[in-house]
Amino acid sequence: MRHWFSRLMSGLRPLTPDALDEEQRALYDAIRTGPRAQGLLDGVLTRADGSLVGPFDAWLRSPVLGSLLERLGMALRTDTLVPAAAREAAILVVARAWSADFEWWAHRRAAQDAGLSEADIEAIARRRPPPTDDPAVRAAHEIAIELVYKRALQTTTLAQAKAALGERGLVEVVMAVGVYQLVSGALNSFQPPPPTGVNIEGPPPVEEHAGYDFYHAASTLRAVRKLRPDPIPEATLRRVLKAATWAPSGGNRQPWRVIAVRDPAIKQRFAELYRPRWTAYTEPYRAELETLAASFQGAVAAGDHLAEHLHETPVVAVFCFDPEGLAITDAELDRPSVVGGGSLYPAVQNLLLACRTEGLGCVLTTLLCAEEETVRELLGIPEPWATYAHVPIGWPVGGGHGPIARRPVETVAYADQFGEPLFPPEPGTG
Ligand SMILES: Cc1cc2nc3c(=O)[nH]c(=O)nc-3n(C[C@H](O)[C@H](O)[C@H](O)COP(=O)(O)O)c2cc1C
Repeated sequence: MRHWFSRLMSGLRPLTPDALDEEQRALYDAIRTGPRAQGLLDGVLTRADGSLVGPFDAWLRSPVLGSLLERLGMALRTDTLVPAAAREAAILVVARAWSADFEWWAHRRAAQDAGLSEADIEAIARRRPPPTDDPAVRAAHEIAIELVYKRALQTTTLAQAKAALGERGLVEVVMAVGVYQLVSGALNSFQPPPPTGVNIEGPPPVEEHAGYDFYHAASTLRAVRKLRPDPIPEATLRRVLKAATWAPSGGNRQPWRVIAVRDPAIKQRFAELYRPRWTAYTEPYRAELETLAASFQGAVAAGDHLAEHLHETPVVAVFCFDPEGLAITDAELDRPSVVGGGSLYPAVQNLLLACRTEGLGCVLTTLLCAEEETVRELLGIPEPWATYAHVPIGWPVGGGHGPIARRPVETVAYADQFGEPLFPPEPGTG
């Protein structure tokens, strides 16, 4: 829309009513007097010269397809079962991805009317998951993200979307994403002039190099402790473990190895060792659990589930390290030494992010480190190698990944001096 005038000269000059042939006139009248005119575009559907705004002028150039598209657009709004808030969240993801200003402007208002909060809309604008708890909106958002950025839906997304929206809702969201990508393509190609007297505001610009996949994966990478026993395909396991190998380490010594434990007998022993450790670790909170935040109670319940079902997890990735291969630059200081771990945990984090990207649930656990002697024996780990993380991996039982609670960047990132804020608070996060 920004360069609409120059585009106009080489593209489509909006058709004024006197320039329409009979077929175009019929479609023009249908759009102008149809339900759209009373809806969101009330008063702005035609410009001062009578031409149609948004994609509708382009539709007039091919009246048969244009009228089908027009009816399809209306039917998506009036004849579908998918909740309006979910549908609008999906459309906003498309408008955001294509930076289609008119579509964003029109559907931002539709989303507000459908009950999406400002925080949800702001998050979508910034290519983050909306904070809402509404499972239908979250499912529709995930569908749109995967279709737009990955061109297909992952198995877990399909399953979750089917549970949240039903088969019909799932398909309707997929259809809406397709239709609005078409609309975005038309808007961005033809860049029609704005409606008369209206300031069209599109989504905020995003840094082009800000790959959505990473930000989406990292900002929804929470501990997933309820995992299904279904196997993980060999190729998938290879991909996520390969991602672990890309991690940095001091002097590039890569002093770590990972053992993918799938043997039911060994996993059974892990579960027996983990359960009492988990119980002891959470014991101090149990008496007052009901007074604690719901999210904490949920985490403990999910942790209980993991403790009870660890042996059913398809893979437990056990990370081992060679203490002699660590570059420990803080060994002499009078405080706990942590630098050695810096050569080890990036590999785990890479694995977690790769699992998230695959739709696999996982959680970094360390309680079994206290049982190192037994684990070493079970897995044939030679001296002087030791263990530093045990990561159960599997397809999530329920929602799996989702929004995380972390300190805002402006409270942890400082400018030149400790405590001096580097950034002002982000809009919508206050
Ligand atoms: C070093 C480390 C050790 C952890 N150990 C365990 C563990 O033994 N068991 C467990 O269930 N979670 C463990 N976690 C997961 C944390 O509890 C979890 O990341 C944190 O509570 C934040 O939760 P969220 O990621 O779901 O937001 C560990 C995390 C880290 C970084």
